[in-house]
Amino acid sequence: MKKLTLLPMAAMVGLLFFQGTTKPEVETAPNHLAMSPDMPENIKAIVDQKCYGCHNAESKNEKGKAKLDWDAFEASKKSKQMATKGKIAEVLEKGDMPPAKFLENKPEGKLSEAELATLMEWSAGKKKKTE
Ligand code: HEC
Repeated sequence: MKKLTLLPMAAMVGLLFFQGTTKPEVETAPNHLAMSPDMPENIKAIVDQKCYGCHNAESKNEKGKAKLDWDAFEASKKSKQMATKGKIAEVLEKGDMPPAKFLENKPEGKLSEAELATLMEWSAGKKKKTE
């Protein structure tokens, strides 16, 4: 009976095909910020956690929103982004952000040393030393 030998072969071929087409799971962590080629993932992650809450288009923090809106930043021109980055570097340098008043109630909102360094490097436009 030929049919009996064909069946396992068909199963094998099917299995190979199946393995060939299954892609590895891609991590798609939800992000509040839209995709932008100018925003590396590590920067986005920090901003999302530590800055975005006050600095977004829907923020109830009117002062914060007026000064910096990350959603608008994403959409703005390169020259505008450069200017904003300069401002960011400035406040980080002074340790003004997140605001001290806010940190009194939410100390976990503070930037870690590593996060601060990463944000500074990005906003000041310096290249990473480890590259
Ligand atoms: C608790 C809310 C809050 C968080 C969190 C926060 N900010 Fe702010 N931010 C403000 C407010 C309020 C102002 C306006 C301050 C003022 O006008 O005196 C501001 C102003 C700024 C400005 C404009 C400064 C200027 O003078 O133009 C920059 C840049 C900025 N923030 C960056 C950041 C960054 C970067 C982070 C994250 C590390 C961050 N902020 C996190 C509330 C916040």
